[in-house]
Amino acid sequence: MEEMKTETIQKKRILSGIQPSGDLTLGSYLGAIRNWSALADEYDCYYMLADMHTITVRQTPAELRRRTLTQLAAYIACGLDPEKNVLFIQSHVPAHAQLGWVLDCYTMFGELSRMTQFKDKSAKNADNINAGLFTYPALMAADILLYQADLVPVGEDQKQHVEICRDIAARFNGIYGDVFKMPEPYIAKVGARVMSLTSPENKMSKSDRDPNGCVYMLEKPEDILRKFKKAVTDSDACVRFDPKEKPGVSNLMQIYAVTTGKDYGVIEREFEGQGYGAFKSAVGEAVVELLRPIREETERLLADKAYLETIYRTGAERASYVAGKTLRKVYKKVGFVER
Ligand code: TYM
Repeated sequence: MEEMKTETIQKKRILSGIQPSGDLTLGSYLGAIRNWSALADEYDCYYMLADMHTITVRQTPAELRRRTLTQLAAYIACGLDPEKNVLFIQSHVPAHAQLGWVLDCYTMFGELSRMTQFKDKSAKNADNINAGLFTYPALMAADILLYQADLVPVGEDQKQHVEICRDIAARFNGIYGDVFKMPEPYIAKVGARVMSLTSPENKMSKSDRDPNGCVYMLEKPEDILRKFKKAVTDSDACVRFDPKEKPGVSNLMQIYAVTTGKDYGVIEREFEGQGYGAFKSAVGEAVVELLRPIREETERLLADKAYLETIYRTGAERASYVAGKTLRKVYKKVGFVER
């Protein structure tokens, strides 16, 4: 009876992560972190800093370390309470690499070849199309499946990777029985695909070569305002939501909608007959106000390295405990001799 009770009150589990491959962007915030903090009470949440994924592209070691700690501070500053959420660094939990290898052997060459991110990244890094870049979705599947996650909150661009994770899990379960929980992607309706401010047909990305297209979460207010003022729009001078015909304006409307909670109809009426100048400034100011407390809190936390160390150490222990259980089960199923 007692056992049944704990069973029924067990919260569903969430796993997600961000690569510290560049400074966090407004896209990472609106597409991912913002949704994470809203889910903390309802779910048992695991959020990682996906440092192992970053080395599929060459990194400067000192920069990677700095960005990983900054990203941890930013997670907390965005409202992820480290008591309620397990915050950890992927490379601190060896089970990710260990399950990643096993899943490599249950992932097909053909399905990896179809990943759009692999095609994009290999076009951008033609001199370094390494095996890790190719098998990256199997490592991401390991990240998710180790925690038996029910839900994976991500932006639109990661949907394909969650889908392949489900295919891998189904294949594995089909052979060995119900080893892995089948995860669902969780993609917010608005903010799931924030586009570049200078080329609104491309997504806003940490690794964007054009610094004006991308707004960073910890950027100075004057820089954010300047970037919004320069944002590419069109010659129509009408604030109307139409992603096909008016990608620049629609992207700004999306950003304004998520930051202010206003819907598209209200925004269209607010700027009726005003042209783009007032609109762009309003979006820039809304973003500055949204990010200001996050930036200030991140800076405060970054000054306390000992505190951050405690958080990632505790996080690694809590994550290792759960991940270890799944890994042991997998090793047994595939026929490895127990140590
Ligand atoms: P990454 O680091 O590229 O992006 C982190 C999260 O931010 C979302 N995102 C965006 N959302 C909306 N608009 C944008 N312009 C935008 N840019 C980024 C991404 O969709 C993502 O949710 N492979 C993952 C990291 C990862 C992971 C995982 C995620 C590793 N293991 C396990 C979930 C579960 C990645 O590269 O995300």
